[in-house]
Amino acid sequence: MTQAAANKVVLGLQWGDEGKGKVIDVLAARARYVVRCQGGANAGHTVVVEGRKTVLHLLPSGALHEGATCIIGNGVVVDPIALQEELAELGPAGVALAKRLLVSDRAHLVLPWHKALDRLSEQRKGDGKVGTTLRGIGPCYGDKIARIGLRCGELKAKDFRERLRRHADQAADVIRSYGAEPGDIDAMLAEVLPACEKLAGLVADTSDILHKAVLEDAAILFEGAQGVMLDIDYGTYPFVTSSNTGIGGVITGSGLPHNRVGEVIGIVKAYTTRVGAGPFPVELLDAKGEELRERGGEFGATTGRPRRCGWLDLVVVGFACRLNGVDTIALTKLDVLSGEAEIPVCVGYELDGERIDTVPADVMALENAKPIYEMLPGWTEDLSACRHFDELPATAQAYVRFIEERVGVRVGYIGTGAGREETIIR
Ligand code: GDP
Ligand code: IMO
Ligand code: MG
Repeated sequence: MTQAAANKVVLGLQWGDEGKGKVIDVLAARARYVVRCQGGANAGHTVVVEGRKTVLHLLPSGALHEGATCIIGNGVVVDPIALQEELAELGPAGVALAKRLLVSDRAHLVLPWHKALDRLSEQRKGDGKVGTTLRGIGPCYGDKIARIGLRCGELKAKDFRERLRRHADQAADVIRSYGAEPGDIDAMLAEVLPACEKLAGLVADTSDILHKAVLEDAAILFEGAQGVMLDIDYGTYPFVTSSNTGIGGVITGSGLPHNRVGEVIGIVKAYTTRVGAGPFPVELLDAKGEELRERGGEFGATTGRPRRCGWLDLVVVGFACRLNGVDTIALTKLDVLSGEAEIPVCVGYELDGERIDTVPADVMALENAKPIYEMLPGWTEDLSACRHFDELPATAQAYVRFIEERVGVRVGYIGTGAGREETIIR
């Protein structure tokens, strides 16, 4: 048996945007491989190095570490155009990165008509829309499950153009059945084909590469996208994304078994945010919500949309930890809470006169759930210079310990700023 101890999984435990990109960047310094396992260009993972901000969408957030090979695993849905654009945006670093970037032959392709269908599906839902990122994620995973998708491994097939054309024609029929016009398919094909050709050069059997990496004891870092409350099974369905965002998605989306993925690190923002529609019990619709949004810079890294904000919800965090066997919590953005006299933390919900401590499956029930808060004392100090736990104000330490006690999981990392170095490792 080889050791999986050096391997680490990073998962978002709320509604996404917990700060996974930053934590991955910090941990990637010691990783040989950084692997995305699900989602696609809907993700927006921010990394700040020496004041310079980079936002990664499809590319793993290990991108800035030259020693790490970046893998886009089979569970990811890959938009060839978005991938080329993202590499181009990185400039010379993107050219260098393309040499240590591999894409699974089993990963599905997100094609222009998937994006058109995403938009159309949202329009048809009207007020009930999900508020997707319009990156074609749902329609692409839909094709995968319906067994009509195209995979990256097909890019090298001699008849790939014909396959692509057939796929486009099929999508055009679906678009017409919605009473809409599919647009200029030839123009779409002409746009996507050059990007497909470039992508073909990156395709490999990434699960086999990872199995060999395990035999060599090479450290692997798995990068979750989105968060547990956006999980297709356990999130606030139907206001979710179309993949398994938890540990299950890491296993099916990388090709490594459960006993090879190593330590599970759950990322928890010190308060809660959500983008898009759907229930959000702790949402603050008042000036305080606005204040958190401004102070935390809570605007989408992919779409620029303002994020909905609320206090920390430990019902959600506990639920996400139990579902995913979280070993360690990385608490991010603790610095943003500085200046609050008292900080409410949600420790349960009241639903129909009863107290519950888990997330109900029914979104209407969650919509009606009233958060039960405990008030914790705040602090006024700026935390950005703190590098050790004992440098934090006593009340900030107590906030961290409160989370550990209530959830039963150790907090091993604390974020005190967006920069790589603004991290306390306990
Ligand atoms: P991700 O999708 O989980 O990678 O998170 P995003 O990048 O979408 O959003 C997190 C935001 O918070 C980004 O702007 C990060 O630069 C920033 N961030 C991450 N950790 C911290 C932290 O500890 N403190 C502060 N102030 N900002 C942070
Ligand atoms: P990262 O990885 C926050 C949300 C969308 C929408 C729902 C479905 O940066 O944390 P989709 O385009 O996936 O079909 O949209 O999921 N969503 C995210 N919210 N962070 C993300 O990624 C998200 N990816 C998707 O806003 O509500
Ligand atoms: Mg994000």
